[in-house]
Amino acid sequence: MRHYTHINDLDNLQKTVQEAISLKENEFQFENIGKGKTICLLFFNNSLRTRLSTQKAAQNLGLNTVVMNFGSEGWQLEFGDGTTMNQNKSEHVKEAAKVVSQYCDIVAIRAFAGLVDKEKDEAELVLNSFIKYASVPVVNMESSVGHPLQALADAITLEENKVNHKPKVVLSWAPHPKALPHAVANSFINMMQLQDANFVITHPKGYELNHEIVKNSTIEYNQEKAFENADFIYVKNWSSYNDYGKIALQDENWMITKNKMKLTNNAKFMHCLPVRRNVVVADEVIDSKNSLVIEQANNRTYSAQIVLKKILENIE
Ligand code: CP
Repeated sequence: MRHYTHINDLDNLQKTVQEAISLKENEFQFENIGKGKTICLLFFNNSLRTRLSTQKAAQNLGLNTVVMNFGSEGWQLEFGDGTTMNQNKSEHVKEAAKVVSQYCDIVAIRAFAGLVDKEKDEAELVLNSFIKYASVPVVNMESSVGHPLQALADAITLEENKVNHKPKVVLSWAPHPKALPHAVANSFINMMQLQDANFVITHPKGYELNHEIVKNSTIEYNQEKAFENADFIYVKNWSSYNDYGKIALQDENWMITKNKMKLTNNAKFMHCLPVRRNVVVADEVIDSKNSLVIEQANNRTYSAQIVLKKILENIE
């Protein structure tokens, strides 16, 4: 594996999940694999989990880590070809990516969707420009369209907590006051399509995701019906995809409550975090013993660590 930009970059998801679980048992077992090498983590957007867990994962592998909040500290980048740069953009990504490549052996990038121009977001300008102009492997720490490190952490968490061979897993939309990107939901769907599970997506009409990602996954518009006999409830807000980046409706009845969880098969509650309490999920659910949110965040370290290990093995 050279770059990690999508869950499909892994040769075998199930095998990778097992490797990550084994890594978790002794997180320092490959502490020298990154010795003498450096990873640059470039953040064009805020983060808590991704920043700290990826840095920890890198350090567990012996990598030096350099972190930069590019969005607030770096020069504003130009991405267009042939642009006359006489406005507010100071540096072209062609130089920036090549310069960064001299300082590190892997570059990891977080660059969210702008949610204004669908075509531009789907072109993954920041991520793909670094892939094009950098000379080192690139890791996606959440781009416009996907969050594959989160999806791998979610796969690890599902594997560790499933009691049925073929669990029912429900991805549910929930309300949120701000328009949020589709990346986490997209990557969760990508990952679930590689699992032996009964997978159902539930959301109000108007929140249909990209049909090229959803493919033939089951959609159930009735949230309570979707929850029946579920083993896992994975919750995430996203803005409208068809009416791109807009909030189609703000129905507080879609919040995850104790009564809704009673419809399930004693389901575990999952969310990638950060989460708005009593908007997305009621306190009584996120604080219950069935909540896996802290475990999920913990698994972000092992998700990043197994990915970085695979990349390092390829560049040695
Ligand atoms: N889940 C996740 O990516 O969290 P952060 O945005 O805090 O990194």
